[in-house]
Amino acid sequence: MKMKYFYFHLIILNIIFVQLNAQKLIKSNQEKFRPQIHFTPEKNWVNDPNGMIFYNGTYHLFFQHSPNASVWKDISWGHATSKDLVNWTRKPIAIYPDSLGLIFSGSVVFDKFNTSGLGKNGVAPLVAIYTQHDMLKEKSGRNDFQNQSIAFSLDGGEHWNKYVNNPVLKSPGIRDFRDPKVFWNKSTNKWIMSLAVVDHISFYSSKDLINWTKESDFGTGLGNHGGVWECPDLFPLKFEGKQLWALLVNTNPGGPNKGSATQYFIGNFDGKKFVPYSTDEKWIDYGPDEYAGVTWENTANKKYFIGWMSNWMYANIVPTEKWRNSFTLTRELSIGKFKNDFIIKSNPISAIKSLEVDSEELTSLISSSDLNITNKIKNFTVPSKIEIEFEKNNDVIICFANKNKEQLKVGFDDLKNQFFIDRTKSGITDFHKDFATVSIAPRLCDNSKVKMTLYLDKSSIELYADDGSTVMTSIIFPNSDYNTVNLSSKKNSKINKLKYFQLKSIW
Ligand code: FRU
Repeated sequence: MKMKYFYFHLIILNIIFVQLNAQKLIKSNQEKFRPQIHFTPEKNWVNDPNGMIFYNGTYHLFFQHSPNASVWKDISWGHATSKDLVNWTRKPIAIYPDSLGLIFSGSVVFDKFNTSGLGKNGVAPLVAIYTQHDMLKEKSGRNDFQNQSIAFSLDGGEHWNKYVNNPVLKSPGIRDFRDPKVFWNKSTNKWIMSLAVVDHISFYSSKDLINWTKESDFGTGLGNHGGVWECPDLFPLKFEGKQLWALLVNTNPGGPNKGSATQYFIGNFDGKKFVPYSTDEKWIDYGPDEYAGVTWENTANKKYFIGWMSNWMYANIVPTEKWRNSFTLTRELSIGKFKNDFIIKSNPISAIKSLEVDSEELTSLISSSDLNITNKIKNFTVPSKIEIEFEKNNDVIICFANKNKEQLKVGFDDLKNQFFIDRTKSGITDFHKDFATVSIAPRLCDNSKVKMTLYLDKSSIELYADDGSTVMTSIIFPNSDYNTVNLSSKKNSKINKLKYFQLKSIW
């Protein structure tokens, strides 16, 4: 009889424990500033997205992560998976540091034909290629502290085994020698690695992911050199049936609105050498807060991109404590043309529509000096999406505000032909001198109609203008959610269409 009571109490205690934990979990995704439509780990620091690959029906996202600190430290590869690139499942740490160093940025490939010989019993491996950064060597004043290593997984990316003869590509004694991004080049039947080396990208080739041969260098003196080159990504993209090659080069600092940002080149790659069609400065995202962006492997003829949503100027001191930093929405890349030159267009992947729960359309609005449209929108909440369309000779400012009188302004200036995000009064801004800024971006489109799509989350705003021709990402820290929306302009501007979508949380 007593035993029965004991078990009964044990079950009750268990139920209470499970419920308490569930409550803790709910709370843990609802803290102030916690992104609701962007991925974050439950706690601690993140920077670059790494090793993204689609494999066996699952999208993998690995990332630079401090397992035990909310600042950059003990860098390992964190891991998350998704079926649709919108909703994410947090996974255990994938790769921890070892005696060769921290686990810096890199990529993952599916070695379908087991060229590496790391497969077993007919199972082809996933192979991760990453930089190992040896802090002790660096501190001792040596220059050969960044080397490339590999690890393999035989269970679809859940567990990783380090290759016994690491590193596979040794430092030639250059301090910045990192961030390998690898793909299988069908036309030469070789693996190609793009590697960031100080102020240029070096291309290496390999038959087996283990032995690497240098093919060429690209970039010294070309494009933007306001800082060191990092995290490259070379991949083919079609434009009107013709195959072009895009080369992303992350640059820190030197970004169009200060700090770190992702520039790119469009050109041709013949299996050995990359030759750009133009060397004008172009940026994937002109806002202050997209960096280290690279693309998914193994997604057939689609190219999906994700960036780190922060800036090295202040990433370590932004006012979140439990976790620090996040990623952009996943974007699909395509090629467009502007003034006889190729540009990369980025648009949120179509699956993001699954988060839309309600919408409201307003037409023919005259935005004079002050037009409050909050009452015309049912349930204005954050996260949300706003689409707005107007003729080019109008100028428009969309102002989000909260009860603390904090304001975030996003708009288009027709005289200067540029978009802007003004976060000077958006909330907490005093943690860094370069945070309270107005960032600007050129309009890269000649259409008479201007289109702006905004995604507003708890601590970020993304602007996709003219079907992804100009993109801007900015983080913000309002003390309470914005709850009003105002339109204004210098003259009486006519807004043809404004559509508001209420979005649901991914958590
Ligand atoms: C870019 C970067 C990479 C490096 C990683 C270290 O943000 O500096 O070059 O591999 O971060 O965390």
